[in-house]
Amino acid sequence: MPSVYIETYGCQMNVADTELVVGHLAAHGYRRTDAPDGADVIMLNTCAIREHAEARVIGRLGELARYKRRRPDVRLGVTGCMAQHLRGRLRERAPWVDVLVGPDGYRRLPELLRGDGDPHVALRLDPSETYADLPSARESGVRAWVTVMRGCDRFCTFCIVPYVRGRERSLPGSVLLDQVRALADAGVREIVYLGQTVNAYHDGTWDFAELLRRTADVAGIRRIRFTSPHPSDMTDRLIAAMAECPAVVPQLHLPVQAGSDGVLARMGREYSVAEYEALVAQLRARVPGIALSTDVIVGFPGETDEDFAATEALVTRVRYDSAFLFKYSPREGTRAWKWGDTVPETEKGRRLQRLVALQEAISAEINRRLIGAEVEALVEGPARRPPGWTSGKTPHLKTVIFAGTARPGDLVRVRVEAATSHTLSGHAI
Ligand code: 5AD
Ligand code: SF4
Repeated sequence: MPSVYIETYGCQMNVADTELVVGHLAAHGYRRTDAPDGADVIMLNTCAIREHAEARVIGRLGELARYKRRRPDVRLGVTGCMAQHLRGRLRERAPWVDVLVGPDGYRRLPELLRGDGDPHVALRLDPSETYADLPSARESGVRAWVTVMRGCDRFCTFCIVPYVRGRERSLPGSVLLDQVRALADAGVREIVYLGQTVNAYHDGTWDFAELLRRTADVAGIRRIRFTSPHPSDMTDRLIAAMAECPAVVPQLHLPVQAGSDGVLARMGREYSVAEYEALVAQLRARVPGIALSTDVIVGFPGETDEDFAATEALVTRVRYDSAFLFKYSPREGTRAWKWGDTVPETEKGRRLQRLVALQEAISAEINRRLIGAEVEALVEGPARRPPGWTSGKTPHLKTVIFAGTARPGDLVRVRVEAATSHTLSGHAI
């Protein structure tokens, strides 16, 4: 049986795509292996969101050239967003790569890996491809990621995703519920619905709110999350579903990207700061105690000191539980590309550092207030340290570790005794 080794770069969508590719290849006689040495097929499932992500893969491809020299019949593949983004240029930079497959080409992998099909390139975007019929080899555990929609139609001016993942399309609700039921039967307790604009989900009859409500009825599923929503698609129906379904956790990743109206407009985000904050207020009113996280880009073209100060002010007002903070990275092909990269690298670094420090302080403060409180941990397994401790997640998606052991999937009440900006710790009650 031929073996395949896959490294995954980038976001959770890519992790889910890797599980899909592994499932598809398994159905064609491949088995997954954890080591590249000896693997018949070596693949990198790649990300194109920032230049840094691509640079890492280019570096890794250089290393993989050595495998190819030692074992000329090993098949090397590059899949995912970066393959789609760089296309032929990737073949020029790494001619030892055999197969280039974009996010809509995974179905052809078995055939391409056999060497059929010329020139071993599957880079056509296909707006109807959802892979709804392909089996996914999910890592078994208490949590499973389920892709509900693919692609994006929003075209934020900084973002490469609509170009490399193509148009938005949703999977049929019935297919998704079947997947969730099977996962529940296999012991999964938490479902994370995934999509580039997950709350734009619409299969013709069900919107995302309907999908959440139906999922909440599946026996065995204790928690439901989703990522990442676009603020403009946070409908009243969706907020009502979050408020009314106990299984839908009080936690939301709500990317804001910037805190000034001028930058938001040039980003093409389609909301103002005031509209975003009104949404936050509505969420907090309907879902008491909801934990919020966000994405912010610093150094977008034309971002002034005042714009950045507005972002700091917004982060201070909203008080996110956590945030992913990025330096702007120009992506060829996007609308913002032609506006250049006007904020100097050192200034981007300074803004990022300031924002990281601000957010760390806020996260630590929010978490410290939990000391003395009781939280519910969904157990994942042994904590990395200290020895003999167990790790889980709270409904608010905070990591919590506690003394003693418990089985993965158990729900354990923990009294919080200490907290950092990233972790809570305490004892089971
Ligand atoms: N540069 C920096 N960050 C980006 N993101 C998307 N495109 C870029 C870019 N060109 C960030 C956004 C998005 C997250 C997944 O990545 O914040 O929400
Ligand atoms: Fe990119 Fe904007 Fe689509 Fe998110 S909504 S994937 S940031 S274009």
